[in-house]
Amino acid sequence: NIGAGRFLPARLSLPALREAALSCEGCDLYRNATQTVFGAGMTHATYMLVGEQPGDQEDRQGEPFVGPAGRILDKGLAEAGINRESVYVTNAVKHFKFELRGKRRIHQKPSAAEIDACQPWLEAEMRLVDPAVTVILGATAARALLGPGFRVTRERGRPFPRREGAFYVATIHPSAILRAPDQDAAYEGFLEDLRAAAALSP
Ligand code: URA
Ligand code: SF4
Repeated sequence: NIGAGRFLPARLSLPALREAALSCEGCDLYRNATQTVFGAGMTHATYMLVGEQPGDQEDRQGEPFVGPAGRILDKGLAEAGINRESVYVTNAVKHFKFELRGKRRIHQKPSAAEIDACQPWLEAEMRLVDPAVTVILGATAARALLGPGFRVTRERGRPFPRREGAFYVATIHPSAILRAPDQDAAYEGFLEDLRAAAALSP
């Protein structure tokens, strides 16, 4: 893992980043994935949502959160009163990591080294979008943004200052709702955290 740093463009803008990320070889994940899935949304979005990594659908379509997890996310945003137009969505890791089982591609968690390798893209997106509210979706995004000591289960729903007037709020990953024994309860908790995030917007 040489890291994404050396693939960043000299002059930072979201279009330049997106373009440069297409040819990133900062870790081995680019080898088996279909394409880089970069963040999407307006440059000065109020909210930045950070997931883990693209899934099967995202890998095929080249856009973040367009599969099953994206449908739950969209539902939660709508119910929390967060306008999809005011949101920039991205992932901590920009390539899909999977294991082949027959013809099926099974999602695998990115390693700490892969999260660290991809971090320069996320950091550059954060700097350019500079959102008022950054919603951390699960442990991988938490590690990328706040380091390995942060515990989503303990700290979820609470604001953490990022700079004057800007905050992080962590919640579970929408995919975790799909795997939860009680999906309704998991979704309600997720929604409560999104409402806490919405309350922080200027
Ligand atoms: N899960 C994620 O974390 N990100 C996506 O884009 C899709 C599923
Ligand atoms: Fe580069 Fe990130 Fe893809 Fe690794 S996962 S190749 S660091 S864009």
